[in-house]
Order: sequence, then structure tokens, then C-alpha cells
Amino acid sequence: MMNQQQTPLFDVLDGHAKMNPQSMHVPGHKNGQVFSKKGYPYFHKVLEIDATELTGLDDLHHPEGAIVEAQKLVADLYGVEKSYFLVNGSTVGNLAMILAACSENDTVLVQRNSHKSILNGLKMAGARPVFLHPTYDDEVQVASYVSFKTVKEAFDTYKHIKAVILTSPNYYGMVNQKELAQIITYAHGRGAAVLIDEAHGAHFILEGFPTSAISLGADIMVHSAHKTLPAMTMGSFLHVNSSLIKSEEVESYLQMLQSSSPSYPIMASLDLARYYLAAVKEKGTIQIIEKIAVFSKRLGAIPQIKVVTSKNQDLQTDGLKLTIQSQCELNGYELQRSFEKEGLFTEMADPNNVLFVLPLSKAFDADEILIKIGRAVREYRPIERKSIGLHDEGKTVSTLVLCYNEIKGYNKKVVTFKDAIGNISGEMIIPYPPGVPVLMEGEYVTERHIEILTAYIETGAHFQGGDMKEKYIKILDM
Ligand SMILES: Cc1ncc(COP(=O)(O)O)c(C=O)c1O
Repeated sequence: MMNQQQTPLFDVLDGHAKMNPQSMHVPGHKNGQVFSKKGYPYFHKVLEIDATELTGLDDLHHPEGAIVEAQKLVADLYGVEKSYFLVNGSTVGNLAMILAACSENDTVLVQRNSHKSILNGLKMAGARPVFLHPTYDDEVQVASYVSFKTVKEAFDTYKHIKAVILTSPNYYGMVNQKELAQIITYAHGRGAAVLIDEAHGAHFILEGFPTSAISLGADIMVHSAHKTLPAMTMGSFLHVNSSLIKSEEVESYLQMLQSSSPSYPIMASLDLARYYLAAVKEKGTIQIIEKIAVFSKRLGAIPQIKVVTSKNQDLQTDGLKLTIQSQCELNGYELQRSFEKEGLFTEMADPNNVLFVLPLSKAFDADEILIKIGRAVREYRPIERKSIGLHDEGKTVSTLVLCYNEIKGYNKKVVTFKDAIGNISGEMIIPYPPGVPVLMEGEYVTERHIEILTAYIETGAHFQGGDMKEKYIKILDM
């Protein structure tokens, strides 16, 4: 084990800033000397370390000094062969891992409720996705995990499967460790690599939290460090631990896809986030977990809301994710807005739920948060609210009607929801967050898709893709 108390990249930046350097190089803000007065009070300290590839500060695309040391410390902490800093979020990690693992026309098993970056990666690679439909959790009313049985069914149905791409945990923090382990072992036995979008699980090496797919033997994992660790937005990690995929292959895609001027503040925040995580690991998580348990209990005592967790005994849920449902007239989005009026901003809402992401620290003011929540809902009468079902048609495995390469030749036209049914969708329609498409480009639009989209629209979701206000969808003009 390396000395995890080191912060090599942060240290060289700190040292550089402290020598009061004269900037005759990019960026144009010259260590913060030239900057709009309006933003200066917020930006100026960070601009002092917003450097470029100067002597001693290393180069992300050819690391030999502080960056390589900082990345080695990440790999050491997570127990993997190689780790990489990402400055464009898990998005770029997902794109790079898919491009490294899949070539044109490769058949790839992919979880249906994946983030759009996974689907965009498959589109860029020109791969042929076979969708693995997740189990639906009736308590939380969300798609949860892909079962081992579904993966086996796909292997029995399709030949020459190159990779299995799963998302674990889901946005709400749910993991089925046992089945994930079975899937990884089975896929490897069939010669397929396993790629895990573990964007929400960068802290899963800590005791008391679900186990990371790293320990379960997956080939590549991507972590949005910025989601649950104290790192700057866009700061993420990619880990390679594989005998099937070469790290050089992943590296070459990261070089193509990431900026040639990667942000030093983001990279330094990754160095510090790893340092923070190592310190929490060393100290233990008992106090954090206890604090969350007490908070969750007090939250559940507010009559207008209920804290929901899956009733599936085989599932583990990340303690940093807390899902609540309304027990009053408000739907999930309305409940979220009522909190915002009290100055409390939550991670996400869906038609049924509001999701909190709690800090990886015991230092949060639970009293203050509970007062705000209580104030936000006190005018509403408590009722037993029936939740809205958002499950799909109950398929286990499906494919696109036309793969990404086959779609390219078609024109697209915009039609009403009703007219779209039975046609092939020409776009992804994505409630954002969570960024998981309800409708995929290249699949038939079904009545169930329209019902689900309508439920999202009527409860107040925000979308990427389509004209959801007017209820129009782009379809292929066949
Ligand atoms: C499961 C999942 N994967 C990937 C991403 C993309 O991550 P990033 O925002 O770090 O690019 C997200 C973003 O919300 C996500 O929820």
C-alpha cells in the first residue's frame, strides 16, 4: 500500500502558485490577474492553480511526474492495475471504455436503463446492442438491476458477444452484488469483457457501503468522483483491471476524447478527493453511517413523506442515497419544488420520488435540513398516495429494429405521439436527470413508451430530445 497521505498533483500546483509566477502563457486570465471584476471574488483563488502543462506540472496525455504519481495512488487505493483521471466526467470514461472494447458490428449486451453516454458510446463504435431489461422495483417504482437469468438468456440467444455493459448502482443507489458477481464470472467464462458504469459508486471501497464491481472482478469501471466524493464537477476516474482489454487501448481513446488542455483544478480536486477517501477508509465509516440512519429515521417521522427502500432482500442500497416519496397531494417534482422554495435543493425528482445525495461526512446539519423539509410540506394534509407505475412492457431481452449504422441513411420526420406508435424512433427521448432514455433511437415506438412519456410530462419532468411540450417525436421516414 502506498502512502495515501500524499497529494502529489495538488502539491506541485500549490508550490507553483506560491512562487508568485509571471505568466507568459495560456490561459488568458494569467493566474487570475486578468479577469472580469464581476466573477473575480468567486474565481480568483481557483485561477491561481488553473495552470497549464508547465515545467514540473506534468501532462495528462503523457504523464511522467506528478500526474502519474497521483493516478498511481488512485489505482493503489482502489486495488486495480491502472487508474486514469477524467476531466469530462464519467461520460468520457463510458465512451472510451466502449470504444476500447467494441468494434463495428460487435454484439454487445447492455443494460436498458443505461445513461445516454453508454448508448452514445455504442453508437460511436457502431456496435449492435442487445438490451438487457432490468428488474422493476415495485416499492421505489424504478428500474433497478439486471438479473443473472436475463444475462444468461441473452448469451443463449445471441452468438459472439463481445462485452456486457452494466450500470451498478442505479441512480437511486441500488446494487445486487450477488447477481452482479455471477454475471461477471459467467461473462468471463464466455469470453466477454464486463464494463461497469459505476458512476454513483466511487465510494464503494468503504466499509458499510455496497461492494464495488472492482472486487467482483469486472474489467473496467468508471466512477464519477464528483458525484459522491468531494471532487469538482466533471472530475471522474476510470479503472482498468482486465486481461481482455489492454489499458493502452483505453488510453488511446482517452487521448482522442479528452481536451488537450485538461483542467488542473479538476485534476487537483481528484487528487484531493482520493486523499479524502483514503482518510475516511482509514478512519472508518461508523459515525457517517449512524448519522445517516438517525437522519433517515427523523425524516420518516414527517407524516407528509415516507423514506422508501427496496423490499428485495437481495439488494444493497448505498447509504448516501436517500429516496423519499410524497404522502400528500404533491407528486415527486412538486415535492422537489416545495423544498426549493425553502432553499433546499435536491439531486433529482421523478414522478414518484425525490432523491437526496448525502455527503460522505458526518458534518451536515440534519436539524436545519429537517426544519426546511417540515416547513415545505406542513400545509399539505397527509394521505396515502398511490404511486405511478413506470415499468416497461415486461421484456427481458430486446434489440433495436435498425442498428445505428443502418439508421444513417434515413430521413427523419416529426409526428405526434399517437402517430409515432408502430414507427421507428429517430431519436432518444431522455428525462433529465436521470439521463436514462425512455425511448431509444432505432426502436419501435410502443403504446407503453407513450404512456410512460405522458406520465413524465404530466408530472413535470425536464427532457432532452423531442418536443415534449407539444408531444412530438422524430421518427424514421421509411
Ligand atoms: C449512471 C450514470 N452514468 C454516467 C453518467 C455521466 O456522468 P458525468 O456527469 O460524470 O459525465 C451519469 C450522470 O448522471 C450517470 O447517472
